[in-house]
Amino acid sequence: MNKEIVKIFDTTLRDGEQSPGASMNIEEKIQIAIGLQKLNVDIIEAGFAAASVGDFEAIENISKVIETSTVCSLARALGRDIKAAGDAIAHAKHKRIHTFIATSAIHMKYKLKMSPDQVIQKAVEAVSYAKTFTDDVEFSCEDAGRSEMSFLKEILDAVIEAGATTLNIPDTVGYRLPAEMGKMIKELHDFVSNRAILSVHCHNDLGLAVANSLECIQNGARQIECTVNGLGERAGNAAMEEIVMALKTRADFFKGLDTNINTKEIYPMSRLIANITGIVPQPNKAIVGKNAFAHESGIHQDGVLKHQETYEIIKPEDIGLNNANTIVLGKLSGRHAFKEKIESLGYRLSKEELDQSFGRFKLLADKKKEIFDDDLRAIISDEIIKIPKAFELVNLQISDCMTGVPSAAMSIRYKEKEITDAGIGNGTMDAIFKTIDRISDINGELKDYKVTAVTKGKDALAKVTVKVSFDHALPVFTGHGLSIDTMIASAKAYINALNTYIFEKENRNKRDRGGI
Ligand code: KIV
Ligand code: ZN
Repeated sequence: MNKEIVKIFDTTLRDGEQSPGASMNIEEKIQIAIGLQKLNVDIIEAGFAAASVGDFEAIENISKVIETSTVCSLARALGRDIKAAGDAIAHAKHKRIHTFIATSAIHMKYKLKMSPDQVIQKAVEAVSYAKTFTDDVEFSCEDAGRSEMSFLKEILDAVIEAGATTLNIPDTVGYRLPAEMGKMIKELHDFVSNRAILSVHCHNDLGLAVANSLECIQNGARQIECTVNGLGERAGNAAMEEIVMALKTRADFFKGLDTNINTKEIYPMSRLIANITGIVPQPNKAIVGKNAFAHESGIHQDGVLKHQETYEIIKPEDIGLNNANTIVLGKLSGRHAFKEKIESLGYRLSKEELDQSFGRFKLLADKKKEIFDDDLRAIISDEIIKIPKAFELVNLQISDCMTGVPSAAMSIRYKEKEITDAGIGNGTMDAIFKTIDRISDINGELKDYKVTAVTKGKDALAKVTVKVSFDHALPVFTGHGLSIDTMIASAKAYINALNTYIFEKENRNKRDRGGI
């Protein structure tokens, strides 16, 4: 029997990036988009083109490399936003513009200061203009969850007439309960009929984003907007992996429905996002949490050993988990095996990037007995997904922290020159960061510090993620550092955040002078 497809619209790169601390650079966004394509998502919302030059460039670059998924940009119902969106996706094989305006009484009165008639007019103008860039136009009624049903019908009628092909009903503030969302979608589905695809976008403020999305599918929604690991504004969005696996695991309930997702890519994708953003899913997070397949109690362990399905409703291999911690490569592995492995993980590297990562892999293989998939992902994020290195760590020595005053002596390369300096601090980490501040002459304030072991074992790679604000200014910059030694990883992470700050500042200056 042919199954009906529920489209997966992934907004990790747009709504997901709105999670505090989840900002990503262009290279990182491109790697994520490639991973999303491998996952086979139907639509990638690559950003909000009018929001910044960085967003525009990310969407433009993603449009050039993505072939099978549709690439989409968000745009307010404003001419200049739609033009930016249309230009940014111009190179995409399959392109969509997603335009929106608020439709709830509270948003129209206080935020937009517009009458309902003006809102309808703006929406129609936006959709009509978007149609001049692409046939595939999505319209969203922001805060639909708190909008009047009669007004929703009126505006949806008008935008269908103007050419909208997908109509999105967001529960923007995560207020609705499943029964309410389901009822709303049923009524709108009956009203819209087959004139457009009905979509939902549920936020998780009450922890109901996934439940609400599933209820909407039952009532006619055929596109779900979601994010990997449930990232997103405030409490996040509906988690893609939960929706997809609910549909797959309970195919008996969601009769005749399916998604196009290649579920074996779910776990690798979740790890990629966690690596890049530094936001690791909580251990008990459904599907992708560290404990999602761990059986602690003796009774459960015994049951699973006798028959897997006694306590497991999902096979770990169905989400690509079985491969994640198998030993993949060793000291003697050659360049060819390395290349194949990297490609199987979803990365597409240039020759130079491959050489760089292979060199790094060889160095690691000398120190670490077993190299896992997660080690390779960490190496790629550390080596490849990078902004230019204004500063680069050459050498680090720390004092004996048990007895003396904590101090750090380091050499850092800056513009072909090596600068050496030393500093003391309230602890070794503080000494390292203060010395970097002195050498760079840029003052950083550490906002967050996290260290995780990439894999198991005493010789595991340490991955440090820092969030730092520089020169007392916003925004906060994220930096990652990877090493077998936690102190070296910390210094690298801090320098990586500093380099991002310098890169963005220089780009901003160039733009202000009209250089970009
Ligand atoms: O939550 C929301 O309403 C949104 C829209 C822009 C779709 O993110
Ligand atoms: Zn949203």
